[in-house]
Amino acid sequence: MAFCWSVPVLHHQVDKKWRNKSTCRKQMHKFHHTNSHPFACSKEMAIATSDSVNESNNALDATDFDKYVMKTYKRQKLYFTHGSGAWLWDQDGRKLLDFVGGIATCSVGHSHPKLVEAVSQQMSQVHHVSNLYYIPQQAQLAKWLVEHSCADRVFFCNSGTEANEAAIKLARKYGKVRWNCKEPVIISAYNSFHGRTCGSLSATAQTKYQSSFLPLLPGFEYIHYNDTTSFLEMVEKITKSSTSNPDRRIVGVLLEAAQGEGGVMPGDVSFFQTVRQVCNEIGALMILDEVQVGMGRTGRLWGYEHHDQVEPDIFTTAKGLAGGIPIGAMLCKSHCDLFEPGDHAATFGGNPLSCAAALAVCHIIEEEHLVENAKERGRELKLGLERLKESYPHIISQVRGWGLLLGLELKEYAASQIIEAALEEDLLVLSAGPKVVRLAPPLVITREQVQLALQVLNNVMKKFKL
Ligand SMILES: Cc1ncc(COP(=O)(O)O)c(C=O)c1O
Repeated sequence: MAFCWSVPVLHHQVDKKWRNKSTCRKQMHKFHHTNSHPFACSKEMAIATSDSVNESNNALDATDFDKYVMKTYKRQKLYFTHGSGAWLWDQDGRKLLDFVGGIATCSVGHSHPKLVEAVSQQMSQVHHVSNLYYIPQQAQLAKWLVEHSCADRVFFCNSGTEANEAAIKLARKYGKVRWNCKEPVIISAYNSFHGRTCGSLSATAQTKYQSSFLPLLPGFEYIHYNDTTSFLEMVEKITKSSTSNPDRRIVGVLLEAAQGEGGVMPGDVSFFQTVRQVCNEIGALMILDEVQVGMGRTGRLWGYEHHDQVEPDIFTTAKGLAGGIPIGAMLCKSHCDLFEPGDHAATFGGNPLSCAAALAVCHIIEEEHLVENAKERGRELKLGLERLKESYPHIISQVRGWGLLLGLELKEYAASQIIEAALEEDLLVLSAGPKVVRLAPPLVITREQVQLALQVLNNVMKKFKL
C-alpha cells in the first residue's frame, strides 16, 4: 500500500467552494479527528494542500513520521484525506466504514456541515481570548450542560485526563474545606482508565500504564469494579484507619459509569447504588468519569442515567463533547462547587472555538435525535453481534456494552487479529485490551451502515473459522 503524504490525494473531492479559504475550514471540511489530531497539524496540512507546492519536496512517509513524531502509539500504516458521516477515505482513495470514531470521539461523524459551519464562523470572529474575560459561548455551553444533567456548575479544560485532574483536585479541596483533611483518599477501580497525567494515572489502576512512572500520587485505593464486597471492605478498612489517623479520610470515589478501555464493561446498577448510598453516609463525593460514555454514546445522554436514581456529585466529560475538537469539562453540584480564583485553571479551557464546536454538537445531538439513534442502532448492532457469537462460539465469548459502545470478548484470538482482518475489508474497529474488539462508531451511524459492519464482521469471522 502506498503510504506517502503525496499532495494530490489531498486535493481529492473537497468541495471547490472551500478551496482557498482558511486552512481551518479546509481541515474541518475534510475531517477533524481520527486519533492524532489533524486539526492541530494544520501547518503541515496547509503546506501540503497549497496548489503551488512542489509535490516531491513535501512527500513524507511513515519513516519520516516516526523520525519526527514520538512513538506513543502503534499506528496502522494509513492516513485519511477526508471523511463524511461515518465514512473515511484513505490516501489511496479507499472508502472505509469508521467504527472507531476517533476513539469514541467523533460523535456527529466526520465533516458534519453544522459543526464545520460553527467552527469556521467562530474562527473567523474570535477563537481565543483567555478566561480573564467573559466568554459568551462558554456560558451558553455550560447552560446547556447544566440543563441537560444533574450538575449545577461547569469547569472547562481540553481533554479527559484534565477533566479528571480537576475532579481529583476538587475532591481534595472538598476534604480540606469540610474536615481539614490532610491525607485525602480517593477510591477508584482496577481495570479503570482515567487518563495519562499523573493524577489521573494514579487513579487508573492498571499496572501496564503505571509501572514506568512510579511513584504515583499518594491517596488512591483500588477496588474491584462492580464488586460491592470489595468496595464495602475498602471503605471499612479506611474508616477504621481514620480512627487512629483522623487526617486520613475518603473524600471521593472515582468510577467510570461503564469501563471503556478496561474492556467495555457496563457498570452494575446495584453496585453503583451502593456506592451512592455509602458516599452519602460518609460524606464522600461520588465522581463519575463520563469521558468515553458521556454525550449520548450509550443511548442515554450520560452513563449514570443507566444507574437508576444514581446522580454523581461530580462528573467529567470530553471525547464526544465537541465531536473531535479538543475540549473537556468537569461538572459538579453546587454543594461541592468550591474552586476559587487561583485554585485551578486552563489557558485554552473553554475558549470560544472549542465551546462553539461543543455547542454545535449539543444542538446536532438534539436536532438529529442522536441519543435515540445511539440507542436504536446500538440495539441492532448488539443483536447482530449476539448472532455472530452464536455462529462463531469458538471466537466470541461475550458481547457487552451499552448503545454504541460495544465490545466483543474473544476466546482464542487477539483483538489485533480481528482489527487487521476488518481493515482488509474496509472496516475500522479498535481494541479495548488484548482480547476485546471495541465498536464505537459516530452517533450518526445509519441502520444500513450497522448492517454493513455486521456483514463485514461475519466475513472476518469466517476467516477465523476452525
Ligand atoms: C474513561 C476515560 N477517561 C479519561 C480518558 C482520557 O481522556 P483524554 O485522552 O482525552 O485525556 C479516557 C480516554 O480514553 C477515557 O476513556
